[in-house]
Formats: sequence, C-alpha cells, structure tokens
Amino acid sequence: MMTPNCEAAQLGQFIPVHYHYNMLLDEARMQGFRAAIEYVVKPGMKVLELGGGTGVLSLFAARTADKVWCVERNPALATTARQTFSRNYRGDIVELVQADAFDYLPPEPVDVVICEMLHVALLREKQIEVIDSFKKRYVEKFGLPLPIFVPEACIQAAQPVQQNFVYEGCFITTPVFQNPVAIADRTLELAEPTPFQSFSYESELHLRCNWHGTITATESGTLNALRFVTKNILAICMESRSTIDWHNAYLILPLDEPQQIEVGDNIEVQFSYAVGAPLEALHPQVKVIHAQRPQESLRRVAMA
Ligand SMILES: C[S@@+](CC[C@H](N)C(=O)[O-])C[C@H]1O[C@@H](n2cnc3c(N)ncnc32)[C@H](O)[C@@H]1O
Repeated sequence: MMTPNCEAAQLGQFIPVHYHYNMLLDEARMQGFRAAIEYVVKPGMKVLELGGGTGVLSLFAARTADKVWCVERNPALATTARQTFSRNYRGDIVELVQADAFDYLPPEPVDVVICEMLHVALLREKQIEVIDSFKKRYVEKFGLPLPIFVPEACIQAAQPVQQNFVYEGCFITTPVFQNPVAIADRTLELAEPTPFQSFSYESELHLRCNWHGTITATESGTLNALRFVTKNILAICMESRSTIDWHNAYLILPLDEPQQIEVGDNIEVQFSYAVGAPLEALHPQVKVIHAQRPQESLRRVAMA
C-alpha cells in the first residue's frame, strides 16, 4: 500500500493521474513516441510497455502489433488505462497488467519494449533500474536476443548558463524546469551543451552518472547555474540515417557561488549521483580556471 511519505510516493513511482494530462498535452513527447513506435513496431510483433500510465503508448503500438502487454502499478492509472483500451481502436489486443515492472515478465518473448519512466538527468524516475532488472530477468527466462527498446539510447549534456532568478523583484534561486522547445529568455548560454554520458539501452546500463570534465566558455557573463539536457533517442532509423528524438524538460540548477567569467575561461564540473535519486542528489561542484588575458601576459612580460 502506498502512503504519501514512503519512497514509492515520490514522482516517478507514483505520478498522480492529473499529471498525466500534462504528458498527454506535451506535443513533442506524444509526436516523438508515436513516430518512433510507428517506425519500430511491425505487423505480427509482440510488445510490452513498462509503466503504461494512461495507456497511450500501448495504444500507439496496438495499431500495428499483434499483442501488447501494458504494465502499470498505480491502481488509479491501471483503471484509467483499462478504460482507455475499452474505448479505443484495437484496444482489445492490449492486456493491462497491474503489477510492479521490477517483477513482471511477459508470458512469451516480445519484439519491442516501450518504457517511459524518464525524468531529466535520469533522476527521480526508475527507467534505468527497471530496464536493467528487466533485461537480466528476461535473458534468464527467454535467452537472447533482447527486444528492441523504445527509447533506444540516451545522450546527456551539461551547459553553463547565466540564469535570471529574479521574479517580480524577488531573487529566488530554485531549480528550474524549462520547456526545451520554447524560447528561454531568462537564460544566457555561456557555452555549448557538453555531453557527459551516452548509452544504448541494449548495452550494459550504469546505475550512477559520474562526470569530471571541462567546458570552455564561449560567452562572457555571470556563471550562476548549470543546465542539464537529456536527449532520448526514441528510434534509430537506419534507412534514412536519422533518429527520432525527444528531450526531457531541461533542468537548470543554481550554483552556490556565482562567478564572473570571460570567453576562453575553463569551467571544471564534477558530479556523481545515482540514477533515479531525488533531485538533490545532483549537486555539481564547479571551479573556474580563468584564461590568461593578453593584457595580463603583457604585464607579466613588463614585470620580468
Ligand atoms: C512518466 S509515466 C509514463 C506513462 C506512459 N508510459 C506515458 O508515456 O504516458 C510513468 C508511469 O510508470 C508507472 N510506474 C512507476 N513505477 C512503476 C513500477 N515499478 N511498475 C509499474 N509501473 C510503474 C507510473 O505509475 C506512471 O504511470
């Protein structure tokens, strides 16, 4: 039984039904998953969805697949998904299973696994742990090959930014979630996003994100936040050598000590956190190494 205080009640493990309304309205998410599922799922295939929510992604699969199992643990969502399947085209081929995705295995091998338990930076939701556990149990029961995963891969990046944290005259530094497809007029990008992790779901999955890297500033400004970008490669289209992508909302994390930086300065960034952990687990350490300016070099030469 889930109570509001237990770990399972955290976002990702227990997303309230009304929050799914926002996910259904998110056109980039819906269109991306629909295109990827239409591309990957072929007639005759069997599909499993882990964490089905309202059932929308299972319905996309059901348009082409022979059989879909949709696993959802939250009882309210399981009820919603059951209704969804009874009211929509080919919903009758979807079997709703109210179960924990950490335990469930389908009765027979599947061709495709859809799983969207994704939060920016792979925090909060249990995507990686669920798929890692699924792969081990699946291979034990059915052997290889593994099914195709939707998403197939993921690339994560960090970007130094100057963020405007003033709201109606009040300076409030909280983490900010930013729509990746909207104009971000509160954010000045101080460098390009720098990849810190990339992996494919069929390969070994790492339960920690660790990075120690350097980003060189391409703009001058006040470095007061880091932006985290999580790009999900939903499907890899071999014929057209293209991908179908969807970005989670960007996460902007305020830094403890803002610093003035100039073009060419190096920003050393370091962090280590467990995937699926609460937001607070990502606490980057940032150190600025100022580049030598021409006038400084001249002064040194003059002093020598
Ligand atoms: C981000 S929502 C996505 C829902 C749906 N796939 C979609 O795209 O609309 C993740 C879903 O996973 C479910 N979930 C979380 N942990 C689960 C678990 N251990 N077993 C089964 N479902 C789980 C949540 O209740 C939620 O409905």
